[in-house]
Amino acid sequence: LGISLIALLFLLDFMKSRNNGPRFPPGPKGFPFLGNILQVDFRNPTQTFYQMSKEFGNVFSLQYFWKKMVVFNGYEVMKEALINRSEEIADRPQFPIYEPIGYSGDHKGIVLARYGNSWKEQRRFTLTTLRNFGMGKKSLEERVTEEAQCLCSVFKSKKADPFDPQFLINNAVSNVICSIAFGDRFEYDDAKFRHLLHLFETALKAESGLLAQILNEIPLLIKIPWLLDRVMQPEYELIAFLKEMISEHRRTWNPNDSRDFIDVYLVEMEKVKENSSTSFNEANLIATTYDLFGAGTETTSTTLRWALLYMILYPDVQSKVQEEIDQVIGRERKPTMGDVLQMPYTYAVIHEVQRCGDIVPLALPHMTYRDVEIEGYLIPKGTTVITNLSSVLKDQQVWEKPLQFYPKHFLDENGKFVKREAFIPFSAGRRACLGEQLARMELFLFFTTFLQQLTFEIPSDQPRPREDPIYALTLSPYPYNIRVVPRV
Ligand code: HEM
Repeated sequence: LGISLIALLFLLDFMKSRNNGPRFPPGPKGFPFLGNILQVDFRNPTQTFYQMSKEFGNVFSLQYFWKKMVVFNGYEVMKEALINRSEEIADRPQFPIYEPIGYSGDHKGIVLARYGNSWKEQRRFTLTTLRNFGMGKKSLEERVTEEAQCLCSVFKSKKADPFDPQFLINNAVSNVICSIAFGDRFEYDDAKFRHLLHLFETALKAESGLLAQILNEIPLLIKIPWLLDRVMQPEYELIAFLKEMISEHRRTWNPNDSRDFIDVYLVEMEKVKENSSTSFNEANLIATTYDLFGAGTETTSTTLRWALLYMILYPDVQSKVQEEIDQVIGRERKPTMGDVLQMPYTYAVIHEVQRCGDIVPLALPHMTYRDVEIEGYLIPKGTTVITNLSSVLKDQQVWEKPLQFYPKHFLDENGKFVKREAFIPFSAGRRACLGEQLARMELFLFFTTFLQQLTFEIPSDQPRPREDPIYALTLSPYPYNIRVVPRV
């Protein structure tokens, strides 16, 4: 009797979840209980979404088990949703696997936080801290420049030997965040640094894997400890590592001399400690620092890998960038952000790398914060929303050659840089990428430093690398080898 009752409750709950209400966006008919989960190709969801949008239009719905989802596609819909209805879709769906490790209530940092006061405070504080970073000390720009020079030296030391740049680029980009969070960079072979990077890599894989998705969809299973441990083991270690770093900072803390993000956060905690409704506490310090790593390393380093891949595949573009570098910066002086405006071609190439690389094709899932009407459809509060950025970055109505690497997308007939509204690799609106300015700085300084000092080639004994992506949480290039030739 008990089992039948539970089955009946499940069924009623499920039937309720299938009741979409009037004017809900149309979508493909799914299977009982599973919904549309088997109809989406997980290796290439944007391709499935492209086909579905041809059949159901640019706003369509899906059902995964109990969860209703709406997918937005194309430039016009995305503008209406992300810009005009920004607040209505600014919430985030919840991922129950993080709750047992302290991400509950208002302790979720930024990326995973519900839209509300805690998210606002953490986001505003982090943006301001990044903007003012290193006031009077080493600026963010100096730190990025230093890292780009270190990485270039390692590239040079490879001489004529072919190598895969993935690992080194990842080290350098992670080091920029280490420098922000912990005040200093690490040598690439430092054991602590190696361990930290290993943990982030395994955590990202486990948390975006199938088991994690199942646990998030059926939270009852989280109660089985060994299942949760299989996904969260690297995360436990990472949190322990961050706690240790924070304790070390507390031990050596001088409120009048902030060395890094953690120090500035500790000052803020001290300032507001009498305020019982504050969101500045140790749990949010851990979550927000974690966010800087989680959101700020893989994204930038994958984009740089696309950049080098396009340079070896399109050597004429590489030569033109180098010509512009020689003209504007020369071979002696280090590139600075002040050079950007004088370098329309290089700037266009970096934009085209991001458009074509399309590294976060579905952004992060949003959730409707209140009922919202988009394109005449009614989407109730609490619905998961997928913003298909890829459908905008490759929109056939907008781009001349949507599927090709074509830097002229960002240049007018006089060679001037043209800003394009459909360029949204960082998403847009309230939840837009918090690290956009930092990422743009890293991409420009790393890229120009590379090409000022080196020319990149396909090793002579190796085939032309593939240009299509591997789909995971991000779209990344297949591993490839390069050979460097020094220019100076
Ligand atoms: C969110 C892209 C680099 C921090 C996002 C989102 C995208 C994105 C698409 C989701 C926005 C949404 O939910 O609508 C990128 C790309 C990068 C990059 C393409 C590099 C090329 C960075 C860096 C940092 C960072 C360097 C850190 C300093 C964040 C944070 C969020 C976020 C904290 C969550 C914002 C929120 O929920 O309010 N990013 N990102 N990102 N990014 Fe980035």
